[in-house]
Amino acid sequence: MSADRALRLRAFAKINLSLHIVGTRPDGYHELRTVFQSLALHDTLTFVPRRGPFAIQCDEPGCPAGPANLVWRAAQLAWQAAGRSGDPHGVQVRLQKRIPVQGGLGGGSSDAAAALRACGLLWRVKDDTVRALGGQIGADVPYFFEGGTALGLDRGDLLFPLIDAPAAWAVLAFPPFGVSTRDAFHWFDAALPAAGRPARSSPARWANDLQSQVAIRHPQVSMLVNALRIAGARPAAMTGSGSTVFGLFTSEAAAKAAGRRLSRSGTRSLVTRTLTRAVFARRSRPELLDRA
Ligand code: C5P
Repeated sequence: MSADRALRLRAFAKINLSLHIVGTRPDGYHELRTVFQSLALHDTLTFVPRRGPFAIQCDEPGCPAGPANLVWRAAQLAWQAAGRSGDPHGVQVRLQKRIPVQGGLGGGSSDAAAALRACGLLWRVKDDTVRALGGQIGADVPYFFEGGTALGLDRGDLLFPLIDAPAAWAVLAFPPFGVSTRDAFHWFDAALPAAGRPARSSPARWANDLQSQVAIRHPQVSMLVNALRIAGARPAAMTGSGSTVFGLFTSEAAAKAAGRRLSRSGTRSLVTRTLTRAVFARRSRPELLDRA
């Protein structure tokens, strides 16, 4: 790519249509059987050529601008894979956050996948190498190279594309707190009877095995799942390790009505759409900009 043009990418959110924990692994991670689904909701990352050290400028106050941001880690890994020495430099990333942090929507992981893609182009790292770096950043980063409806096994990073789920309108309800992924898995383990280990998921009573333990600590999660079910959502569940709750609707009008009802009761929400794999691939493509 030309050295003076900026590169813009969308980083889409995901929900887990289902998430079952089928075992524990020697490395402390959990073995999952989960179905990922892409949403149109996205962050936007713009990579601007600029002298000086690699820097992140984020439009959201709570968003880390340093090594705690997975975009930073992605840039470091891509820089090393390009065989360059020292710390990354020559690029500033402008990050427009729309996906809530600690929401179970994969925002940080999706940003990292987009950053790997962009840095791979900028620093000429092979596509296969860039993809392989994803799993080193987080268990659900590899999914953001695939998109659409996909089955995730192992840590959630062994992926099998599925036939696209029927197009749907998704209502996302955001409780006023986040949940750390590590905590949610820890709560799940702590609730298992000692004799029951290694973890075996209970019959599919919940779409998400992490939901009940998160809801014990945050009852608002169950209230929102129930509210969306009553409004007609099928399914309605917590996504990932929470705290976001989603409900899928076949009609835009029903989804918008459910969103309005949530707003009236004081819950922040938004309505978005599911994305097929083909649309995800098209809209994820990096765009060259004339001016940043
Ligand atoms: O891979 P990532 O950094 O996103 O995972 C955050 C934490 O979530 C891990 O440190 C682990 O405690 C937990 N986790 C897990 N099993 C998975 C995915 C995540 O136990 N399959």
